[in-house]
Amino acid sequence: MNQQILENGIRYVQMLFAEDHSGHDPEHTFRVLRLAERLARQEGAELLTVQLAALLHDADDRKLSPETWEGKERARLFLRQNGVPEEQSERIINIIREVSFLGTDSVVPSSIEGRCVQDADRLDAIGAIGAARAFTFGGRHGRVLHDPKIPPVQNIDAETYCSHVSTTINHFYEKLLLLPGMMTTEEGKRLAACRGKFLEEFLQEFLLEWEGKR
Ligand code: ADP
Ligand code: NI
Repeated sequence: MNQQILENGIRYVQMLFAEDHSGHDPEHTFRVLRLAERLARQEGAELLTVQLAALLHDADDRKLSPETWEGKERARLFLRQNGVPEEQSERIINIIREVSFLGTDSVVPSSIEGRCVQDADRLDAIGAIGAARAFTFGGRHGRVLHDPKIPPVQNIDAETYCSHVSTTINHFYEKLLLLPGMMTTEEGKRLAACRGKFLEEFLQEFLLEWEGKR
């Protein structure tokens, strides 16, 4: 039964994000699923809730589908059609609502299951893969790589985060470098420290090359 729901979820994600080249391709969700499973096992969280929330966490993403964001309709419909009990389905929808990065308006999820999914999603935004995703997003949205004349915004809030147009390198300072300090599971903190260190080294090298010092 659980295996069947997971397989349906994987197929659903494959279909939903097949055409996405903005950093939300199906593989992003599958990496989040694998990381979330790893964190869930460490934390003793309820596995199926974590798996379904991870699979559906971007299905109604407000940047991809502002029209379904409030209702989480795709996630809700999928869970209903797959016979997930109403009470568990509500917990999953609630996790999806809580995981988003919204700058200083981000929340720590109320359940351990939510914290596993949030940390997993954030881990995929840092490290080598996170850097690759940022440049993919930047290219897709016509952003310049770097412009030393445009300073990064400090303490960005939800509204600014969603509307703000900046450079891709600024995104590292406005979001990515903050993520290791925002992890709330032990394994998430450990993995994020490594990935964060890589981002810092990458930026250091990038700026040295930019300034002609390498
Ligand atoms: P998530 O999957 O964590 O919800 P987002 O929807 O915020 O992530 O963004 C998708 C990917 O694109 C992430 O890797 C994120 O870091 C990156 N991204 C988002 N906004 C920007 C930006 N302004 N510049 C560069 N990369 C961005
Ligand atoms: Ni995501």
